[in-house]
Amino acid sequence: MLREVVDRIQKEQNISREDLALLLTAGDEEIACLKEKAREVADEVYGKQIFIRGLIEFTNYCKNDCLYCGIRRSNRCAERYRLSEEEILSCCENGYALGFRTFVLQGGEDSYFTDEKICALIRKIKAGYPDCALTLSIGEKEKDSYQAYFDAGADRYLLRHETADEAHYRRLHPAEMSLVHRKQCLRNLKEIGYQVGCGFMVGSPGQTVDTLYEDLQFIRKLQPHMVGIGPFIPQKDTPFGAEKVGTLEMTLRLLSIIRLLLPRVLLPATTALGTIHPLGREKGIQAGANVVMPNLSPVAVRDKYLLYDNKICTVDEAAECRYCMQRRMEGIGYQVVVDRGDYREQR
Ligand code: 5AD
Ligand code: FES
Repeated sequence: MLREVVDRIQKEQNISREDLALLLTAGDEEIACLKEKAREVADEVYGKQIFIRGLIEFTNYCKNDCLYCGIRRSNRCAERYRLSEEEILSCCENGYALGFRTFVLQGGEDSYFTDEKICALIRKIKAGYPDCALTLSIGEKEKDSYQAYFDAGADRYLLRHETADEAHYRRLHPAEMSLVHRKQCLRNLKEIGYQVGCGFMVGSPGQTVDTLYEDLQFIRKLQPHMVGIGPFIPQKDTPFGAEKVGTLEMTLRLLSIIRLLLPRVLLPATTALGTIHPLGREKGIQAGANVVMPNLSPVAVRDKYLLYDNKICTVDEAAECRYCMQRRMEGIGYQVVVDRGDYREQR
């Protein structure tokens, strides 16, 4: 019976609330067909290739105060840092030599990095590495700013919507933040011409089948090129420090469902997934993900970009993570490739 549900979702590239509830509550054995189908779909589009992105966490200053996040402004325990332009460029140089052809600049919403500074950085990276894609993940900005970054050469933008349900959004964020604005940012980014990624945490406080249904419908309508999802993991110095961690199983099922809804989507097996289970990233790939994002940040700052507790890879050099990832992927029959890893349009 589950097999029919899975086939229907694949065929219609849509999901009903009832089918979602069914898939999220089914037993572990019954659900195997969901993961298999999702992996089959990913293989049809991307084969056995896994794309890697070099993540550069360049600032943990943030003006926002999201209740779940370890670098929220009211977390006095967070030791703040910013990388200099030279340090960032040296991460790229190191990454390029290791075979990375996408760099992801991720940071808190840090007003030190003005549009001018960001644009200058983008130009330098694109001039030094013209064969690489550059992804930004620096939060909500005005459309003019997004346009300026794009004109400077940025190719992609990640902005998780976090939840598509109004009440749930308010539970996760302070009153000054708005879901309407966040969704508008995503539409603006798409309009400008970025490859765009949205996403959410699995198992965040207040998440239900209904809020997840909203997430999936939002994603289906936005038609993003990328979707980032990973388990919610409490960070001890945040208001959600005592909340429950999202589960591996729920995350895997949602990865698979997203693969069926958007067969061509770029879908990472995230570091958070690797944090809650030693083989989390491998299992993510086996459930339909096709991207991994090893860290390129200097080891000296790794243990300061702590969005959640127990984050993995905080002591490993970029090269160690790069080869560790290659081994892990080969171990399950996949190849890490030296490639920008662009979204594959239907031909
Ligand atoms: N657990 C898991 N993911 C988190 N993020 C932020 N805080 C946490 C947490 N405690 C995610 C958010 C954000 C992305 C950069 O990291 O979804 O968009
Ligand atoms: Fe960082 Fe394995 S990916 S040590």
